[in-house]
Amino acid sequence: MPFRPRVGDIVELDETGGSALEFLEHPMAPGMPYGSQGSRGIVFQVRELPYGRLSALKVFKPAYQSESTVRSQALMSRYRQLPGLTVWQRQVFTERTNPHLLRRFPDLRYAVLMPWITGMTWSSIILSQHNLPEQQCEALARHFIDLMRVLELNRLAHCDITGGNLIIVSGQNAKVELVDVEDMYAPELTKPEHPPGGSEGYNHQLSAKGIWEPAADRFASAVLAVEMLVWWEEGLRRVSSREHLFEASEMQARGSKYEQVNRTLRDRYGREIAELFEAAWFSDRLEACPSLTDWAEAFQRRGLGAEAALEPMVLPPPAAPKVHPVTGDSVSLNSAAGGQSAPWKRDGESLAGEHPATESRESRKAGVLLPADGIYALLVLMTLIGLVMAYFLIARLVTR
Ligand SMILES: Nc1ncnc2c1ncn2[C@@H]1O[C@H](COP(=O)(O)OP(=O)(O)O)[C@@H](O)[C@H]1O
Ligand SMILES: [Mg+2]
Repeated sequence: MPFRPRVGDIVELDETGGSALEFLEHPMAPGMPYGSQGSRGIVFQVRELPYGRLSALKVFKPAYQSESTVRSQALMSRYRQLPGLTVWQRQVFTERTNPHLLRRFPDLRYAVLMPWITGMTWSSIILSQHNLPEQQCEALARHFIDLMRVLELNRLAHCDITGGNLIIVSGQNAKVELVDVEDMYAPELTKPEHPPGGSEGYNHQLSAKGIWEPAADRFASAVLAVEMLVWWEEGLRRVSSREHLFEASEMQARGSKYEQVNRTLRDRYGREIAELFEAAWFSDRLEACPSLTDWAEAFQRRGLGAEAALEPMVLPPPAAPKVHPVTGDSVSLNSAAGGQSAPWKRDGESLAGEHPATESRESRKAGVLLPADGIYALLVLMTLIGLVMAYFLIARLVTR
């Protein structure tokens, strides 16, 4: 029977009952659990007990329950510190980590528990024809493009950029977060058996065969950024499709909507931005689309949405896997795992990745002076100064 929680249901994560999830009510549908249906499963809003933190539980349909969710979580959790990738701070339920839970609810196999992002998806803005002021549209587009440039600089790609996978964080003028990150491209991951085919309204003509590569986001990001840039224009809002600006049949064609968008871009944001979109729209390959860095630099030259700009942050390359275990690199699991090894989890690092034990080790490797090193250096320096002073004092006493 499929997993169908009711409002107020409390599901214990282990046999001690020390931690549990409470299923919350949909704010617009009294009596219904707060869940968002995606193509691969349902994302529920839950409260983590006993601490009360709001989280999202993504429950996959059986066809999408895959061990690769665990592998990618292990390799990708380091990217949670990049802007827009908060949901890589996650925990995956497996027979090893949560045997008690999965015995009761087998449908929660490979389900993912991650931070809840409060806000509206970009697709719901389009669907509700929500009017945004011009300045906010520009700030959103700038933040989104800068975020996608950060992904590009870190050799990552989301691979399914679409309005439903982008949440505009509530209470912050232009901050956006990406969700649905399970099929992301990263050099350290292996290609999925069925690479993502993209989503209607953002698909390049080549998407049908599946795209999983560094340039995967170039086309879809260009379309989504342009949707943001022109969304203040009522004429374009009125002709938008249901959840996106362009209909499937209008993609990459020189129709009247494309011309209208092109004119708005040219008039409002200048030739360079209009030409970037033109190059992406009529590209025959993803590599032929302008890069996200091209877009970010053009926005910067134009001073577009400067208040929402992001630093081009690049993480150091991942540490090479160690062949011989060393002290402090224990790979033992908690008792629930029956003593099996869990190579993705080191002692001191929770499965949700909340304690960045790995980072401190990485930053040490990258030559960053940690507090302990600083104290040691200070002690050595003080001892040296003391010795020099003692030498001069003794020398003075002797010469007297
Ligand atoms: N961490 C999250 N916080 C809040 N809402 C989320 C979160 N993750 C997903 N959602 C919502 O659930 C919807 C479906 O999730 P998604 O991961 O995109 O599923 P699918 O892979 O089936 O498309 C999203 O469009 C978004 O509205
Ligand atoms: Mg999705």
